[in-house]
Amino acid sequence: MGVRAIQKVTVIGSGAMGNGIAEIHIIAGYSVAMVDINNKLLDKAVQKIESNLNFLISKEKLTEEAKDRALNNLRTSTSIANSVSDADCIIEAVPELMDLKKNIFKMISDHAPKDAIIASNTSSLSITELAQVVSEPHRFAGFHFFNPVNRMRLVEVIYGKETSHDTIATLMDLGTMLGKVAIKVLRDRPGFIVNRINAPLQPLWSAILDEGNIKPDSIDTLMKNHGAKMGPFELMDFVGLDVIYNVMQYYKKTLSPEWEPGKFISERMAKNELGMKSGKGIYEWKDGKAIIDTTQTTDIIKPIDPLAVVLNESIRVVKEKVAESALDIDRGQEAGMNQPGPFKTAAKLDHKELSHRLEWLSKTYNLSYITPEPELTDGSFRSFIKE
Ligand SMILES: NC(=O)c1ccc[n+]([C@@H]2O[C@H](COP(=O)([O-])OP(=O)(O)OC[C@H]3O[C@@H](n4cnc5c(N)ncnc54)[C@H](O)[C@@H]3O)[C@@H](O)[C@H]2O)c1
Repeated sequence: MGVRAIQKVTVIGSGAMGNGIAEIHIIAGYSVAMVDINNKLLDKAVQKIESNLNFLISKEKLTEEAKDRALNNLRTSTSIANSVSDADCIIEAVPELMDLKKNIFKMISDHAPKDAIIASNTSSLSITELAQVVSEPHRFAGFHFFNPVNRMRLVEVIYGKETSHDTIATLMDLGTMLGKVAIKVLRDRPGFIVNRINAPLQPLWSAILDEGNIKPDSIDTLMKNHGAKMGPFELMDFVGLDVIYNVMQYYKKTLSPEWEPGKFISERMAKNELGMKSGKGIYEWKDGKAIIDTTQTTDIIKPIDPLAVVLNESIRVVKEKVAESALDIDRGQEAGMNQPGPFKTAAKLDHKELSHRLEWLSKTYNLSYITPEPELTDGSFRSFIKE
């Protein structure tokens, strides 16, 4: 098939992710058809895009002419069949439901050109399974953006079992043309790369909440004193404890039973105290801000602990050949999470201290999943960056 030059893109779903995906494409000069189930949703999505473009103008990052050009590149439709018939690339961003997505991909496959690239923005469904309903599944891949799409610089390009190298190369090119850092995910594994390496922090924070010996305020204050924009518990409330709960349920099924959402999070869920959106979660929230006692920190948890956990999982991701290189993991963490790359950060630190911290955390909180990998214990993970 060869690497394709993409001109016409169809985005299915105009919600939180879909309108962001459409926006970055029209700014980059692609002709976009954005599809949703009704015009009310589409109008709302177009308004959101317009307001983002106006914001860029106010920051002198876009001219009025560029805004007009971008909006001229956008059309909307409620018909999947009509809007994919001349598409070079179709990107799906509908809710995370396997059957819904399969129905949509079947329809796309029936109506799109046989050589059109078909991609899903799924965060957790199997690319290989989604591809089953598509004729010529070699042209199907994951194209995973981060929220908010217009601000987060990462896109993960994910192989299913049958995805061709040309399909991946085409999407890598497209991602780069959109101004994103594009990284390849070589295997269709839970969490792909960036969500996966950060996932083992969830059972740790959950276990700390359940144990109740350390106030979340003091850990958040510690992490903020060491450069974090938000502490881990504030972030959980910000994202929503229901979202954290569902993500934990997913990893419990796919990675390890240790992701069982603990008592603390489950009780908050039952009381509908979900964080910022309910005004109460781990913290009380007022005027969009968490009320955090910043007068104390803790020395039980150390500022390097999150790095140790993320690095350990990153080592596994390299060994499982999910990522092409440790360098890609660093680029992914920087562009997708606005966090320093774990390999290059840890390379400057004492690996024995990182390893001891993981031993201690795993014993104290009864989490065998975070016991250190041998390459962390002996420091040989450093050679991963040079490969
Ligand atoms: N929200 C995030 O932070 C995030 C991040 C990365 C990936 N994702 C993934 O992106 C996808 C979309 O998530 P979202 O947060 O944008 O969801 P969302 O609920 O905000 O938007 C989904 C949109 O799809 C539309 N839709 C539903 N059925 C449709 C159909 N048959 N045809 C056309 N449109 C249809 C809905 O009306 C809605 O507007 C999911 O797979 C999600 O896992 C989400």
